[in-house]
Amino acid sequence: MENKRKPLLMANWKMNKTAERALSWLTSYLLLTEGRSQVGDVVVCPPFTALYAMHQRLAEAENINLALGAQDIFWMESGAYTGEIAAEMLTECGVEYVICGHSERRQLLQESSEMISKKCGAAVSAGMTPVLCVGESLSIREGGLTMEWLEAQLNESLRFWDKKSDIVIAYEPIWAIGTGRAASAADAQSACLCIRNFLREIAGDVADTIRILYGGSVTPDNVDELMTEPDVDGALVGGASLQAEIFAEIALTDR
Ligand code: 13P
Repeated sequence: MENKRKPLLMANWKMNKTAERALSWLTSYLLLTEGRSQVGDVVVCPPFTALYAMHQRLAEAENINLALGAQDIFWMESGAYTGEIAAEMLTECGVEYVICGHSERRQLLQESSEMISKKCGAAVSAGMTPVLCVGESLSIREGGLTMEWLEAQLNESLRFWDKKSDIVIAYEPIWAIGTGRAASAADAQSACLCIRNFLREIAGDVADTIRILYGGSVTPDNVDELMTEPDVDGALVGGASLQAEIFAEIALTDR
């Protein structure tokens, strides 16, 4: 089953772009990629406020390889949860993937792995694919505890998982996010292999079907080397995804 996984490239815009700017990115991206082949599946995760307009624009376009993702979800279906967003609000906008447990949310908003597991579960119940983020800080890496840390995060954040539904794991070392200091391909591979081994321990051969992404300072210059590694199935791209031209460079096979 090895190497049968379809590559996946995801753009995470974080808290950037109004709906208007998102649409102008989309117009440029569709023009740049029209009729050209892209690396596997390609997904863009704009802020919530841009999702509906982008969904409508994508519905008008033909033959496009670009799916929508959300940056977060809440686990309850509806009710008195001020500021939160429910699964059906996302599926109405054509959302297929949901980023859950990004380190920025774990750190700045104190999201726990228990909350993240519930979020992933809500995405799966609504037919979307959760993209579970895990990754260590610099002090954990320097202390030689990366693999233990990743296993603990996975163990707690995957409680929702029935070992069958499609999930994606994103390995995003905190020290590599937004720093211009990407992990080496070898370090990304060993972390992604550790993640796959953990998945194999809990779910058997299903582990070979799960896509594991690397995220942290991915650019057109380093993406190929990272993705050549056998257990790195794609990338979650922050800063380099904000300009359509640069993200297209990452996503196009014939650049
Ligand atoms: P950068 O690509 O800007 O380092 O961000 C990575 C990230 O956090 C994607 O989710």
